[in-house]
Amino acid sequence: MSDYAPQPADKFTFGLWTVGWPANDPFGVATRAPLDPVESVHRLAELGAYGVTFHDDDLLATEPDRDRAIERFRKALAETGLKVPMATTNLFTHPVFKDGGLTSNDRDVRRYALRKVRRNIDLAAELGAETYVVWGGREGAESDAAKDVRAALARYKEGLDLLADYVVEKGYSLRFALEPKPNEPRGDILLPTIGHALGFISQLARPEMFGLNPEVGHEQMAGLNFVHGISQALWQGKLFHIDLNGQHGPKYDQDLIFGHGDLKSAFFLVDLLENGGYDGPRHFDYKPLRTEDSADVWVSAAANMRTYLILKEKARKYREDPEVAEALAASRVPDLSTPTLAPGETFDDVLNDEFDLDAAAERGYHFTRLNQLALEHLLGVR
Ligand code: GCO
Ligand code: MN
Ligand code: MN
Repeated sequence: MSDYAPQPADKFTFGLWTVGWPANDPFGVATRAPLDPVESVHRLAELGAYGVTFHDDDLLATEPDRDRAIERFRKALAETGLKVPMATTNLFTHPVFKDGGLTSNDRDVRRYALRKVRRNIDLAAELGAETYVVWGGREGAESDAAKDVRAALARYKEGLDLLADYVVEKGYSLRFALEPKPNEPRGDILLPTIGHALGFISQLARPEMFGLNPEVGHEQMAGLNFVHGISQALWQGKLFHIDLNGQHGPKYDQDLIFGHGDLKSAFFLVDLLENGGYDGPRHFDYKPLRTEDSADVWVSAAANMRTYLILKEKARKYREDPEVAEALAASRVPDLSTPTLAPGETFDDVLNDEFDLDAAAERGYHFTRLNQLALEHLLGVR
């Protein structure tokens, strides 16, 4: 029995903008004071996190002088041993980005956005980051009249190709992870889902340098199955990073604590991440509830990690349960890994099968029993 105490080896990371969110929303002002990134680094290290991530602007939350802010941040990292596995650029807060950054209709803005990303890529590389996230929250439109989407995708590609060339030229060991989201803050955002983003990557000049940073709630906002999306990203070798959080179905982006939305999906997600060959950071991109005070922020940060570790333990027990193994076999789940043609067979060989159509049509798959077993493990009665 574990005490669910997070360790750096668990690779839990947090965006500075998560615990540091002062809880301003479109209907109300902040309910918490701005948080010094240096304090966040120390508090997260005490809680057992492995690292922190940031947007260029997050570093300036309490210290407007960029050089000084970076120096203080570096010192905190050195004192705590926290890593910076990922960094990203804020191309959405400043009014200049109201029609996007890399895909704004205004060419001067697109050029400014490129300068802003390039400068932060240098900092990310200096701090040892391996992943550069691109979340284009403002890349989109509210009206189909306002955006030539084909041109916008061409400009998106142009910008990302330039940035990838820059990384290669500098010799940085950075890869890019695109983060899909269907809407909010724009009415429609470009690259709205995992599938759109995977398709787009195939059009880039250096597709091998691009993968995904999918976020739980963003696929669920679109009514999609996150576990299926992550499975496909893994299958295509494109799960470069992941944003863990919680969401209750299609509505505004809730950014809840991991597991505080669709718990059953979170269970199968942890099982997939732990057994599906993903060894990157488990990055939490959530927002402490607006109702919470400054002390509650750290309760919420700890809750993300604890929930993950509890689910990891549940997934292990689920897999070790002989009845589950038997139910999986009865449902023929492992059989799907057997290639449809045997070694040496050709397509013509399927013509020779002895096959009882009626018997095969009648056979049940017994998925109900399997699902109930998973549920019982999750509910703690097994
Ligand atoms: C969201 C987004 C953002 C981005 C982050 C990185 O919740 O809409 O996830 O949080 O992940 O800002 O740019
Ligand atoms: Mn989100
Ligand atoms: Mn995110």
